[in-house]
Amino acid sequence: MPKGSFPEVEIVEMTERHLDAVLKIEHRSFVAPWSRRLFQETMSFPLSLSLVIRKKVDKKVLGYANFYVIAGEVQILNVAVAPEERGQGYGRLLLSRSIDILRSRGAKLFFLEVREGNAHAIELYHKLGFRKVGRRRKYYTETNEDALVMRMKTDKWTGSTT
Ligand SMILES: CC(C)(COP(=O)(O)OP(=O)(O)OC[C@H]1O[C@@H](n2cnc3c(N)ncnc32)[C@H](O)[C@@H]1OP(=O)(O)O)[C@@H](O)C(=O)NCCC(=O)NCCS
Repeated sequence: MPKGSFPEVEIVEMTERHLDAVLKIEHRSFVAPWSRRLFQETMSFPLSLSLVIRKKVDKKVLGYANFYVIAGEVQILNVAVAPEERGQGYGRLLLSRSIDILRSRGAKLFFLEVREGNAHAIELYHKLGFRKVGRRRKYYTETNEDALVMRMKTDKWTGSTT
């Protein structure tokens, strides 16, 4: 669970006005970044949840996450924290809060795909209770990397501490 408290940040629903900042982070975080259009489509999809974590003082966007929720199953589609803001607990806080929100809406199972070589993200997911349940060979076509499929059952979730 997130260590300490984070009085300086807030987590809010992603809207159009966040997209310039989100796209800057997206392009600095991924080899195959999402387009503005894809963020817009995801946000407008009724079964999605899109959140940003931002500084209260100046509303600077620190990171974001996008989810689909279908019949109690959540797919984590996208999550990133700005490179200069990583390692301070924001990613963990954002995902923990998101899991709390989605659980309160009935989510029972969470799934995600992660590059096999993305040790930081895998470590983070592991700490949140995700376990590897499969592998998709050469899933990331631009690098030929495998994806690990990870799952978390919410009965294993002990809740965020903040
Ligand atoms: C994955 C990501 C979202 C994590 O965000 P973050 O804010 O840096 O993560 P946190 O500071 O909350 O760290 C949570 C855990 O992740 C792991 N972690 C994060 N940064 C790490 C680093 N530099 N070295 C080692 N482990 C790290 C640690 O296990 C850490 O737990 P700890 O706080 O107990 O040490 C961020 O690294 C990122 O945006 N990466 C690029 C995009 C990406 O790969 N997204 C995931 C796609 S599946």
